[in-house]
Amino acid sequence: MTVTIVGAQLGDEGKGGIVDLFGDTADVVVRYQGGDNAGHTVVHDGEEYKLSLVPSGAIRGKIGVLGNGCVVNLRTLFDELDSLRDRGIEPDVRVAERAHVILPLHRVLDGIEEDVKSESDQEVGTTGRGIGPTYEDKAGRRGVRVGDLLDPEVLRERLEYLVPQKRALVEDVYGLDPDDTEYPDAFDVEALFEEYSDYGRRLREEEMTVNAGHFLSQVREDGQNIVFEGAQGTIIDIDHGNYPYVTSSNPTAGGAAAGTGISPGVIGNGEIIGIVKAYLTRVGSGPMPTELGGVVGDTPGYEEQGEGDNEEIATYIREEGDEYGTVTGRPRRVGWLDLPMLRHATRVSGFTGLAVNHIDTLAGLDEVKICDAYELDGETIETMPSTTAQWGDCEPVLQSFEGWSDVDWASVAEKDYDALPEGAQAYLDYVSDELDTPIYAVGVGPGREESLVLERPFEQ
Ligand code: IMP
Repeated sequence: MTVTIVGAQLGDEGKGGIVDLFGDTADVVVRYQGGDNAGHTVVHDGEEYKLSLVPSGAIRGKIGVLGNGCVVNLRTLFDELDSLRDRGIEPDVRVAERAHVILPLHRVLDGIEEDVKSESDQEVGTTGRGIGPTYEDKAGRRGVRVGDLLDPEVLRERLEYLVPQKRALVEDVYGLDPDDTEYPDAFDVEALFEEYSDYGRRLREEEMTVNAGHFLSQVREDGQNIVFEGAQGTIIDIDHGNYPYVTSSNPTAGGAAAGTGISPGVIGNGEIIGIVKAYLTRVGSGPMPTELGGVVGDTPGYEEQGEGDNEEIATYIREEGDEYGTVTGRPRRVGWLDLPMLRHATRVSGFTGLAVNHIDTLAGLDEVKICDAYELDGETIETMPSTTAQWGDCEPVLQSFEGWSDVDWASVAEKDYDALPEGAQAYLDYVSDELDTPIYAVGVGPGREESLVLERPFEQ
């Protein structure tokens, strides 16, 4: 059986913890898109692990697979593996031969393009990890794949085609010196060949590469359970998100098929769990109709309009929820839960269950709100419009709920749903009814033990 985990919002919904929770009874955990832009924190035996590429299940002795839909920074991968080994963990990670390689030049290009865009206020606020430029080269059929690293001749051929093109782009289009960037050898074929063929050797020696679809089919035939772990979230999906403020892959459930080589029928026959944060956060620019307060440099127009009435609530939630980027440390923008967004996410991925995280973070507020619908051009709409400009014009229609106080969340997690404060139950029931989807888990703290589990998908 398979369970697919999808972020229902803008990323950072706490997917890692849920993968970890449900992945306990899985044998293999697979990432199907994205790269080291996906920060996730896993707490295991009281130790905190901050990872950006290694699938979180690999911390717990599962086989972790990076599927063909991923873009892989080998420097990050081996750094993470080495540091986990230093802490006594022996992760078993396999990488799809069809996955694409993030080269240092992709990071350089990510930075240059963001700088250029910022001159006309069009920057996306990327994580700077080279994700977009790598997927561009994949789609442009000029990328380097993990399988290419295993064959020095092919690797050289790929680099000799790609690197001069990118040098020319930096020099002729952007008017910059490719030999004077934060990665000195980023545009040097020989240096890249040496470093990346070494990675190829290491991948081969450690038997880390796989034909992902074939490997995973065998895992299934052996009757083993698989978790597909989506990174980022629905609203930063390149097709279903708020383009262009998106990442360059498909975090939604369809991405799990294309990004692993397992058929959509198999994915659809399994469980698809939408991970929801009890409020909303956003990293980087773009609209956010339910935003409270703002973050300088990210919230559109924030500099001009200054602090509003809701700044205090935003700061409270940001501090209580530790809403700072795992990868970049940037403060996240904060807003109320947005149901039109969740309806869109539920439709796109076909959620069979929900896990709602951070219910504890909202404790202590007198009142919490949910956006039921948007007002757009005099009309009330219940789902997200297709264009980002229209979404930016949406005014939230907010419904107020009574707040709940802080309780001993660890003891709540050991009991059942009724142990949650009444206000929290009313809030969760409302969301579940509106989305017509049952709640499988409620996160009441960062640790895996601090989740109230109502349904265990692998144990039905
Ligand atoms: P990129 O994925 O680095 O290209 O960034 C594109 C957009 O996706 C930016 O708005 C990022 O802030 C956002 N993003 C990428 N990864 C994550 C994540 O793991 N959590 C939240 N936002 C993300």
